Amino acid sequence: MIHIAVFISGRGSNLNAIIQAISDKRLDAKIETVISNDKDAAGLLIAEQHGLNTYALSPKGMNRAQHEEKILEHLNQFKLDYLVLAGYMRLLSPDFLKHFKSEHGHYNVVNIHPSLLPAFPGTDSYKQAFDYGVKVGGVTVHLIDESMDRGIIIAQEPFPRFPDDTLETFTQRGLSVEHSLYPAVLQQIAKHGIESKPKQKLNK
Ligand code: GAR
Repeated sequence: MIHIAVFISGRGSNLNAIIQAISDKRLDAKIETVISNDKDAAGLLIAEQHGLNTYALSPKGMNRAQHEEKILEHLNQFKLDYLVLAGYMRLLSPDFLKHFKSEHGHYNVVNIHPSLLPAFPGTDSYKQAFDYGVKVGGVTVHLIDESMDRGIIIAQEPFPRFPDDTLETFTQRGLSVEHSLYPAVLQQIAKHGIESKPKQKLNK
C-alpha cells in the first residue's frame, strides 16, 4: 500500500480514475489528501464526494516559496510515499521537491503528461499535437525533476489519430488512455517502487 497526495488544478478526471481504481482494488493506495491551487477546481468536489481530505490554496498574493511552504505544512501531517500530480498546472520548486527526495536520488513525485514527451511539453498538449498534425498521440507518466516535463519516463502509451478526428475526439481518446495508464503505473509503483536509472545523454 502506498500513501499518496494527489495534486490537481481543474477537472479532476485523473483523480477520479485513481479513486475508482482504489475502490475496485486495482490500485493498492490510500489518498491521504488532495491539493489544489484553485479553490474552484471541479476535482475538489469529486474528492469531497468520496470523503477525502482536501486542501485548496490559491497562490494569489503570495510568492512561490510562501505558497509551497503552506502546502508543505499541510502535507507534513501525513506520512506520504509519493506525490501524484494529476493535472497540477504549477511548477514545483527545487526547494519544495527536496522534501520528497528518495534514497535513489530522484524525487518521489510522479506526473502524467498528455503527449509522448519530449514532444509537446507545457500546456494544451493535446491541442499542440493535434494542430501539428500528428498521426499518433500519446500519454507519458514520468518523474518530476527541477525542469518542466523533463523527468525520467516511467511509461508511455501511444494512441492513433484518425482522419476524421476533431480536437475533442482526439482529446477524449487521450484522456481514456490516461485514465487506464495512470492507475496501472501507480500500481506498479505500489508493488515494485521506482527503479530510476539516469537518463542517457544523447549528445555524447
Ligand atoms: C490531463 O490531460 C493531464 O494529462 C494534463 O492536464 C489534464 C488534467 O485533466 N496535465 C498536463 O498538461 C501537465 N503538464 P484532469 O484534471 O481531468 O485529470
